[in-house]
Amino acid sequence: MKVQVCIIGGGPSGLLLSQLLHLKGIDTIVLEKHSREHVLARIRAGVLEHGFAALMREARCGERMDREGEIHEGFFIAHDGVMDRVDLHKHSGGSSVVVYGQTELTRDLYEARDRMDGKVVHDAADVTPHDLKSDAPYVTYRDGDRIVRVDCDFVIGADGFHGVSRKSIPKEILREHERVYPFGWLGVLSRTKPVSPELIYSRHERGFALCSLRSQVLSRYYIQVPLTDKVEDWSDEAFWDELKRRLPADVAASLITGPSIEKSIAPLRSFVAEPMRYGRLFLAGDAAHIVPPTGARGLNSAASDIYYLYHAMVDHYEKGDDAGLDDYSRKALARVWKAQRFSWWMTTMLHRFPDSGSYEAKLQETELEYLFSSEKALGSLAENYVGLPF
Ligand code: APR
Ligand code: PHB
Repeated sequence: MKVQVCIIGGGPSGLLLSQLLHLKGIDTIVLEKHSREHVLARIRAGVLEHGFAALMREARCGERMDREGEIHEGFFIAHDGVMDRVDLHKHSGGSSVVVYGQTELTRDLYEARDRMDGKVVHDAADVTPHDLKSDAPYVTYRDGDRIVRVDCDFVIGADGFHGVSRKSIPKEILREHERVYPFGWLGVLSRTKPVSPELIYSRHERGFALCSLRSQVLSRYYIQVPLTDKVEDWSDEAFWDELKRRLPADVAASLITGPSIEKSIAPLRSFVAEPMRYGRLFLAGDAAHIVPPTGARGLNSAASDIYYLYHAMVDHYEKGDDAGLDDYSRKALARVWKAQRFSWWMTTMLHRFPDSGSYEAKLQETELEYLFSSEKALGSLAENYVGLPF
């Protein structure tokens, strides 16, 4: 089979790019190693920058997001028993974010692909890119006993942190930058009314906590836990009790608890792979970079990769102009590193680091005191949270 763009990975990055390119008449195929059910069973974050939301609308996948998603113009940071509000709308010059679960967003993308008869292959085993440095790359995958070959002009590695694409770049060329945090996030999803209409990030001496939501009847909560903890160590009751200890008393008192419908522990890591291009291979999303979820940048840092690749591919096929492709890695990494910085800053400010002493604790308190005493500091936080320009 021959396509113009072969996309490895059927997560949000790969699906969004496939949909955008299809609308421009560029023929793609998405090769996903797992079933659709498996992909859609993943619980991920739920805050979309306005730039990502705009891309979803441009991809004709934004209807349910606009109908069911919530526009949030601010969030709270709880610390020292008080709640300070970050007015995103005021400090970003009128912008906001959309709170809409990534699982639903991925579902919308799959349904859009189906509506347009997009080529999406599930359970594609042993996906392997070949001849990436040639002008005729191809990708093979196993379908049962059959090896299928996909000839293409370009290969997009949208296969996440554990995918095959990044590993296809020779070790002598690939540079990886990583910071692993000494804690994880225990997350719970519950069919309960959210404790707050806006997100609450809490810095507490017992550890970080986050109160988020998916809708007015579906809440998402997190608490920082040691890396040694196992999800089976945490009963629902133990989780709710610990979450309440890390929230201001009035918030804790109004928390509605209920049975967890999903409970998991995720490690926190900052990671960037450079370059994001190798011959005809272009990395996008988690395949190239990972952020700790504190700044809600995960999917959003994939958005700019997709935006740049989308326009570069259109320029290539419509104008024969390869400037966008040639500048992709530099341009994408410039914005990726800004998302890395913001995620690292939010994580460092709000979490309890096991090996930190009183000096670091005072620095965190000072960071928060400065933030809420400075319009400029709030402006910096807001412009990063709603999304820096592409
Ligand atoms: N072959 C084919 N598909 C693969 C392979 C492979 N070898 N390895 C992984 N995949 C698939 C995974 O099953 C997954 O569905 O690639 C997809 C990658 O999707 P994500 O991991 O969701 O990455 P991405 O699409 O970039 O989305 C980034 O997802 O992990 C969150 O926090 C992250 O919000 C961010 C978003
Ligand atoms: C979530 O709703 O899952 C969420 C929200 C904001 C974050 C991280 C996770 O910073």
